[in-house]
Amino acid sequence: MVEGRRDRALRRIGALEASSVGFGAARIAIEGRPPWNTGVEVVKSAVAAGMTLIDTADAYCLESTAEHGYGERLVAAGLRNIPGEGVVIATKGGEIRKDGLWKLIGRPEHLREACEASLRRLEMDAIDLYQLHRPDPAVPLEESLGAMTELRERGLIREMGVCNVTLEELERALSAAPVAAVQNPLSVGRSDQDLIIELCEQEGIAFLAHSPFGGPGDAARIGMDRRLARAAGAHGVSPYDIALAALLARSPAIIPIPGTANPARPAQHARASRLTLGAAGRALWPGL
Ligand SMILES: NC(=O)c1ccc[n+]([C@@H]2O[C@H](COP(=O)([O-])OP(=O)(O)OC[C@H]3O[C@@H](n4cnc5c(N)ncnc54)[C@H](OP(=O)(O)O)[C@@H]3O)[C@@H](O)[C@H]2O)c1
Repeated sequence: MVEGRRDRALRRIGALEASSVGFGAARIAIEGRPPWNTGVEVVKSAVAAGMTLIDTADAYCLESTAEHGYGERLVAAGLRNIPGEGVVIATKGGEIRKDGLWKLIGRPEHLREACEASLRRLEMDAIDLYQLHRPDPAVPLEESLGAMTELRERGLIREMGVCNVTLEELERALSAAPVAAVQNPLSVGRSDQDLIIELCEQEGIAFLAHSPFGGPGDAARIGMDRRLARAAGAHGVSPYDIALAALLARSPAIIPIPGTANPARPAQHARASRLTLGAAGRALWPGL
């Protein structure tokens, strides 16, 4: 763990505690990213805003071999010399950028090497949350998770998670390994993750909601949504705050990890944890 300032609203990821809204560090590392120094400033502003969860990946970089690990190096630079209490660092392995694709490599030997390289780039002795970026169809999920369980037994990772899984894959993962978190896409009003959220609640594991605004390509829609705008007007906040608060109200297992390249925004995102939406929040999830 890296030192940082602690938020009042905490959620559990296995034995770890993190702020209820985390920071997703893809936007500052992949195509369309800001300059390095702005990225560093965004990481620092997330911690200053009280966020104690930062999510990155070894594959958050531009598409070039030399770039692999850029996002992790950036997070490490942003966290250097920060005073205070613990920030949970989550990263991922099992995917690389190659030939215009995000290429999956879930082989155990790749995951072992990837984790050790991530540790060096993040300048840590142990990664707080290490996640399989996506199941590799060419490798049984149990084999990938077996390698991660060994990494945990060696003390190189504290908790492990899976990303972009189906319900069936999550059930298999939970049978095969001590999985503490799932990271799947979830934005306000979506019902396709309902069964996975229910399983997370039953099993006491965290659901990290990635792309909580629908991803950079769709994020503008949040600002144009009439229901979100009405709730935002009633609370005197922005529709983006309401979108995050609605995720927090949806389940105590959910931890949204919004992304931004703008150093002013983490402070706005963090304030969602202080919003109580009540019935207006439930109405934003029509299926419930
Ligand atoms: N596991 C996976 O496979 C996976 C896949 C995708 C994402 N993720 C994780 O999820 C995180 C978040 O996803 P994401 O960054 O792709 O998408 P996102 O959080 O849904 O949306 C980010 C976009 O929202 C915009 N935005 C944020 N706050 C705003 C506001 N107040 N007003 C207007 N626009 C606003 C940002 O623009 P600005 O930059 O201008 O603020 C950015 O373009 C990633 O960083 C990553 O950690 C994981």
